[in-house]
Amino acid sequence: MAITGLALVAFLLMHMSGNLKMFISGEAFDHYAHWLKGEGDEGGILYPLIPQGWFIWIFRLGMMAVILLHIYSAVTLWRRAKIANPDTYVAKRRLAQTYSARTMRWGGIILLTGVIFHLLQFTVRATLFSGTADAAPHEMVLGEFSIWWMVVAYAIWMVAVCMHIRHGFWSAFTTLGANTSLKAQRVLNGCAWVIAILLYIGFMIMPVAVLTGVLN
Ligand code: HEM
Repeated sequence: MAITGLALVAFLLMHMSGNLKMFISGEAFDHYAHWLKGEGDEGGILYPLIPQGWFIWIFRLGMMAVILLHIYSAVTLWRRAKIANPDTYVAKRRLAQTYSARTMRWGGIILLTGVIFHLLQFTVRATLFSGTADAAPHEMVLGEFSIWWMVVAYAIWMVAVCMHIRHGFWSAFTTLGANTSLKAQRVLNGCAWVIAILLYIGFMIMPVAVLTGVLN
């Protein structure tokens, strides 16, 4: 759970920095998107080490494996917790309702639902319409985030994502043995908040800039 969770946080930091290329220019963002997918004349990332266009699919398969392992670990822990605390008595029911039980499980499900919508909105659409004028990644981003309720929906979804990361980051390092003293606990807690706030601002600044016309 800890290792796959941290790998997903690393992906998000990379994804966030990629999105920020919109502040350089639409072309810079498109170049980055095409480079990852091996769609440019130069052959894209890791070409010629691997054939053109392979990287993105290797990466997607790797991400899928990480996500499935993360969900598998969550379900296993959920089941173990249920066996340890069967819902027979009021006192036990309260025990099962820990902070992580409430927010991590339901937060994780909200997060996953959002990811499915997100992939349909961008990746599936880009794959279906590649080769048409509508396919320029920055055009797609400008179109989607000029809709006010879309930006509001993302702002709410990102609260769920960042709450999940705040607790998950802390929990992952605790699992890995870093939470050994009161000072370590304070440092971990501080780092978890910094990562969560950084991701929230880093992700939301671009859609807000599109909506308000700063990026057009
Ligand atoms: C405000 C927040 C976000 C914005 C504006 C955003 C934007 C985008 C855009 C524009 C793409 C398509 C890029 C392209 O096709 O060239 C994309 C792909 C993707 N995003 Fe996000 N994203 C956000 C948050 C997230 C979060 C929180 C996650 C995961 C929890 C996520 C996971 C992904 C994945 C897995 C892809 C597909 C990558 C691929 O093509 O294989 N995104 N995002």
